[in-house]
Amino acid sequence: MLNILVCVSGGGTNLQAVIDAVKDGRIRNTAIAGVISNNRSAYALQRARQNGIDAICLSPKDFPDRAAFNRAFLEKVDSYAPDLIVLAGFLVNIPPEMIRAYPNRIINIHPSLIPSFCGTGYYGLKVHEAALARGVKVTGATVHFVDEGTDTGPILLQKSVEVLPSDTPQSLQRRVMEEAEWLLLPEAIDLIAAGKVEVADGKARIV
Ligand code: GRF
Repeated sequence: MLNILVCVSGGGTNLQAVIDAVKDGRIRNTAIAGVISNNRSAYALQRARQNGIDAICLSPKDFPDRAAFNRAFLEKVDSYAPDLIVLAGFLVNIPPEMIRAYPNRIINIHPSLIPSFCGTGYYGLKVHEAALARGVKVTGATVHFVDEGTDTGPILLQKSVEVLPSDTPQSLQRRVMEEAEWLLLPEAIDLIAAGKVEVADGKARIV
């Protein structure tokens, strides 16, 4: 059984996709041990609780400095003994100590085809604004392992989504979620739970 911990900051539609997929068997052999949000009012926390999943808020604002938050965050994460940490719209930088403690055991979903529109400053609607400003005809989503860079870790899955001439950042964000993110994240977790993912030389491979 793969024990996963999901970290969130907002609405939690990706978390919901994971919860639904665990329930209906698209993600096999996996249990969601807990959900951590840095934002007390994140609707994702309610989604977790409605589904009987332990959900807590841990905000950097409640600590005197970042080092104190990082220590408490790592301690909390460790308390769930996760096999895999899933970042599902989590807007906090993962402390390097956590990345070292969970090598190739943290995944993130990013709403573009990495290496386009990723890295520092590319989050939320900004990603889709940048894609529209550049005039790309295809965008998508990426699930990748988390290393010490921003969106630089080994790519596990990608799915493309067509950009329409009528798109606004909001409509594109929605379609990337519906057509890519909500499918890719469950698929990635299922593959990892089935032991079908290997990471070597900075690359992830499905075996
Ligand atoms: C998603 O677009 C995700 O890719 C990005 O943040 C958004 C989170 O949405 N990193 P939600 O909280 O899962 O609804």
